[in-house]
Amino acid sequence: MTVTLGTPLTPTATRALLLGAGELGKEVAIELTRLGVEVIAVDRYPDAPAMQVAHRAHVIDMLDPEALRTLLAAERPHLVIPEIEAIATAVLAEVEEAGLATVIPTARATILTMDREGIRRLAAEELGLPTSPYRFVDTRDGLAAAVAELGTPCVVKPVMSSSGKGQSVVRSEADVDAAWTYAVEGGRAGGTRVIVEGFVDFDYEITQLTVRHAGGVTFLDPVGHTQVDGDYRESWQPQPMSDAALAESRRIAGAVTEALGGQGVFGVELFVRGDEVLFSEVSPRPHDTGLVTLASQDLSEFALHARAVLGLPVPGVLSLGPAASCAVLATGAGVPVFSGVDDALAGTGVDVRLFGKPRVEGSRRVAVTVARGATVDEARAAAREAAAALRIELVENPSAV
Ligand SMILES: Nc1ncnc2c1ncn2[C@@H]1O[C@H](COP(=O)(O)OP(=O)(O)O)[C@@H](O)[C@H]1O
Ligand SMILES: [Mg+2]
Repeated sequence: MTVTLGTPLTPTATRALLLGAGELGKEVAIELTRLGVEVIAVDRYPDAPAMQVAHRAHVIDMLDPEALRTLLAAERPHLVIPEIEAIATAVLAEVEEAGLATVIPTARATILTMDREGIRRLAAEELGLPTSPYRFVDTRDGLAAAVAELGTPCVVKPVMSSSGKGQSVVRSEADVDAAWTYAVEGGRAGGTRVIVEGFVDFDYEITQLTVRHAGGVTFLDPVGHTQVDGDYRESWQPQPMSDAALAESRRIAGAVTEALGGQGVFGVELFVRGDEVLFSEVSPRPHDTGLVTLASQDLSEFALHARAVLGLPVPGVLSLGPAASCAVLATGAGVPVFSGVDDALAGTGVDVRLFGKPRVEGSRRVAVTVARGATVDEARAAAREAAAALRIELVENPSAV
């Protein structure tokens, strides 16, 4: 098959519409524009990171089916590339069904993964993959019963949420009320359905980045990571693993991504205990922990996503050696201003990405550092050091700096 790519801003253009325009979408947009794709970035707020590198941008409520339908009809993209879960996914199914655009990776994948119940039931009940024990409940009393059945500790999460929102660990029955309230307040779309999972005392957790592309399936080296309150703080590649655990990780990642189908990068989250591997969840798109691939590989997960969604080959991926990433968070309110960028970049093999988020409200990731090193430990230390060198001031009413 021949892949044909046009020229942006002409009738020949290959148009890609990004639903979600955060820091991951920004890297995807950059990679797509390198291949001459016309990129349209969409988010619910103006000046989002990917909008700053796209050809056009739109601000809409992506959960509003009518707004999404209208936008897709006006832009007529060839590719619809979701970056987030909170989308009116039924509209994506309509568009795919009518053959109007290719939804990445598939409309069904976006529907199943936006809801923890969809993907968990697919993985555990249809595919028979190992997971933590779990229950779904809709009421506070249902939660108490599920906690009694599964035992403590266990983890409570809204079925629709991301980045640890609404998620808490129940250590005793006394925690049930707080976990219920927190989950109901932290869930998207105002629902009360939650998943209760047995707490997995894993040795380490990984993201098995998996690329489904025109030439088949490519598994990237395992990415290890740490999470605080359900939010990623550090990642590194490769995570050392036993051969058995690595093989099992790839078996699970292969099975779940095959079931979701389509082309693109997937981030399969796995818990590892000895040689045992449990499936946790999967993003049908580049994963935040995969930011490390900006330093660790000749083709980052974003470059691989661009290639895969365009039907281009991924003959292989060159490892550039051990590497790490460190998330940089800002807390407060205002427009981020970075100093110490020069200090952060003082080391060889270190790089930074300042996302360009227009404003911080609460606690948000505003930058990431990546570093290579002779070993994973060295790379992690270098990424952390660079992150510590960055100082962020949040300016409430900015004038020129
Ligand atoms: N059942 C569990 N046992 C132990 N840790 C868990 C469990 N579920 C989640 N976690 C921890 O919380 C993190 C975030 O949970 P996850 O289900 O991935 O939520 P999100 O969709 O918000 O990323 C995981 O990466 C892991 O560190
Ligand atoms: Mg996760």
